[in-house]
Amino acid sequence: MKGQFPIEKFGALQTPFYYYDTSILRQTLEVIKKELDKMDNAVVHYAIKANANPQVLRTIREYGLGADCVSGGEIRAALQAGFSPDKIVFAGVGKADWEINFGLEHGIFCFNVESIPELEIINELAAAKGVVAQVEFRVNPDVKAHTHANITTGLAENKFGIALSDVERVIALAGKMQHVKFVGLHFHIGSQILDMGDFAALCNRVNELQAQFEQHHIKIENINVGGGLGIDYQHPNRQSIPDFHEYFKTINTLIKRREGQVLRFEPGRSVVAQCGSLISKVLYVKQGTNKQFAILDAGMTDLIRPALYQAYHKIENITSELPIETYDVVGPICESSDVFGKAVDLNKTSRGDLIAIRSAGAYGEIMASQYNCRALPKGYVTEDLL
Ligand code: LLP
Repeated sequence: MKGQFPIEKFGALQTPFYYYDTSILRQTLEVIKKELDKMDNAVVHYAIKANANPQVLRTIREYGLGADCVSGGEIRAALQAGFSPDKIVFAGVGKADWEINFGLEHGIFCFNVESIPELEIINELAAAKGVVAQVEFRVNPDVKAHTHANITTGLAENKFGIALSDVERVIALAGKMQHVKFVGLHFHIGSQILDMGDFAALCNRVNELQAQFEQHHIKIENINVGGGLGIDYQHPNRQSIPDFHEYFKTINTLIKRREGQVLRFEPGRSVVAQCGSLISKVLYVKQGTNKQFAILDAGMTDLIRPALYQAYHKIENITSELPIETYDVVGPICESSDVFGKAVDLNKTSRGDLIAIRSAGAYGEIMASQYNCRALPKGYVTEDLL
């Protein structure tokens, strides 16, 4: 066993695969639960989009979390893992009719609505079933998050949410509809956010809106602040559990909650990223003109984050103890963006060595594709290897 990996068990498995360290996941969930217990009327809805591996989901559900879903498929995955429908929220700018119906049939807690046309369709479909759908409105808070451009969502220029200036009008409109009930506001400013100042800016915006609505006697039962807490990709071992204390404290103290108001969170990455690694085998070590390449059997089809967001993931050779050399670590896919890292220091690497690409528990396995007719990578949790 090198570091935290049961390498002796890895030999029997077909690479590449995802390995989820259940003890890290559980420690993370313990911390979330402890912080949650300190707050009144707070619910955490795990964002299924980060990782929907059935065993990972079941573990998360054991800690009493709810689920944040963005598709009918995610609602199904959440229900199969045992998440309670009354703790399921459903977001997304483009909900299909069958997905709305699916949510209605299972009595999910609420739909996070992003536009008037969507509100109208939910009202219509709920009427056809003779039910009332609870809705929160996703507000585009126009708050800048200091993160990668592809994963910032709360700016006026983004496709998400209802513009600040329209929210009151939309709430009034919902009030006139028979089959929707307005229950709260939903926000999300982006992902991989480490600057608490960004969350503070969101809280200020929420407070402004509440004050404005109060003047017009609009009651907000729920405030859902979305997800976004970032993780330390540089040091997965040193900081394997994100700073939930600071995160929850910032939001819980800054938002001026009204009597009985429920605060909801939707963390995804911060719950699952550090427990997962993509495990791959070295196929070849190739000498280039000025550098050497470690060519892996994992590619961007298995973990697309480096290619799509220029994301950094720590890479380790978990089977070599030899002196360090420098490699460009690449995959086998026919795309020049199929690179996991350039000038990476690894213990001297040879064919057959195992490589761990760390902090890959979030937006890893779930974003895998079959490009080049490749098989999807499997995911294993610690218990599978005992
Ligand atoms: N709530 C809403 C409405 C969201 O859109 C998201 C993520 C979350 C919650 C969860 O955010 P988290 O806590 O994971 O930051 N594929 C990208 C990340 C996309 C995030 C999309 N929305 C990546 O690999 O970095």
